[in-house]
Amino acid sequence: MFCRPAWHTLWTVTHSSLTPDIATGSPVRLRAVSAVGQPEVTPALKELYRGFEQELLVPLWTEIGDLMPTRPRSRAVPHVWRWEQLRALAERAGEIVPVGRGGERRAIALANPSLGGRPFATPTLWAAIQYLMPGEDAPEHRHTQHAFRFVVEGEGVWTVVGGDPVAMRRGDFLPQAGWNMHAHHNATTEPMAWIDGLDIPFQYAGETQFFEFGRDQISDAERVTPDRSRAERLWGHPGLRPVSAAAAPGTGTPLTAYRWEHTDRALGDQLALEAEGFAGTVEPGHAAVRFTDPATGSDVLPTIRAEMHRVARGAETAPVRETGSSVYQVFDGSGTVTVGETSWSVTRGDLFVVPSWQPLSVCSEAGTTDSDSGALDLFRFSDSPIFEALGLDRVHVEGTTP
Ligand SMILES: [Fe+2]
Repeated sequence: MFCRPAWHTLWTVTHSSLTPDIATGSPVRLRAVSAVGQPEVTPALKELYRGFEQELLVPLWTEIGDLMPTRPRSRAVPHVWRWEQLRALAERAGEIVPVGRGGERRAIALANPSLGGRPFATPTLWAAIQYLMPGEDAPEHRHTQHAFRFVVEGEGVWTVVGGDPVAMRRGDFLPQAGWNMHAHHNATTEPMAWIDGLDIPFQYAGETQFFEFGRDQISDAERVTPDRSRAERLWGHPGLRPVSAAAAPGTGTPLTAYRWEHTDRALGDQLALEAEGFAGTVEPGHAAVRFTDPATGSDVLPTIRAEMHRVARGAETAPVRETGSSVYQVFDGSGTVTVGETSWSVTRGDLFVVPSWQPLSVCSEAGTTDSDSGALDLFRFSDSPIFEALGLDRVHVEGTTP
């Protein structure tokens, strides 16, 4: 199976902001330069700039190229993290780093290489591998950051959300809106790893974070692992809303587990419908579902969208640009992913980042030997709800009219 190589971007960004280089004691540094769109360099202009520096003022004409680019220019870059390496390092952390109150979680975050070493996968999204050893508890707490777990392998850990134990198994998507108390427990004799996604960088930039410790220990009743959580028993029935539910929806989905068996069947049915000549897929060979709030039909979390994509063997998706950023994890199968000018071969567990307005295309090379479904299955989460709410969402499919 052949996948096309990376294409080259069709446009070049120009950056017209000026490099400050005069030390005055002020954090504002302005340099008069001869350039198109800039005032003539004269002694009077230089004196004016010194006055701006002293009074902590910055003129728009020196910054407009950086502050108002013609199209989104992300501070993040495309990057891939290999599951094999992530898992090995998480295992090592499991041996030497305890989990408990204070550190709270044995979570190891992806750091985008162009975001200054901060634990930010993108300017808005946190993605981490979390690892829990047999018998361990991760203590209860709550925070305003919205969160989810996604399980690429293993089972046996459960998350107690608001006193409701929720089992975690391969392929399950487990969202949890902000300010809900939650803890984890590994009831098995095997360690378990999964990924956490949160809006930590977004809330960090917005300075909206609150955090509280919960109980030091969860109760014995919460250590029983029911096959289905109370949230699933109330909300986990297709198209059926409990009449007892309040008319006004809460913040985020009340359903705390979306099971793989349902996701898998939905994706398989889309491709089967396509094969029978009916509508259902996004494009030929590309099935996709979005996890939604059963009370409202909207995204599961106010700041995070989550989806699962299935690309049939040999199919290639059209290059798409979107405002806002995404993180993907390969759930099953293999293929070639192209983001901007970068291409990678990916396989189960690998994570990669798609920065804002960078075109993404995926070519599936999955087969029955490396995928349960015989296709490339990709879990995706993004910050789209933020920008949709603000009217800043844009999508462009390459080769179509903007
Ligand atoms: Fe947490």
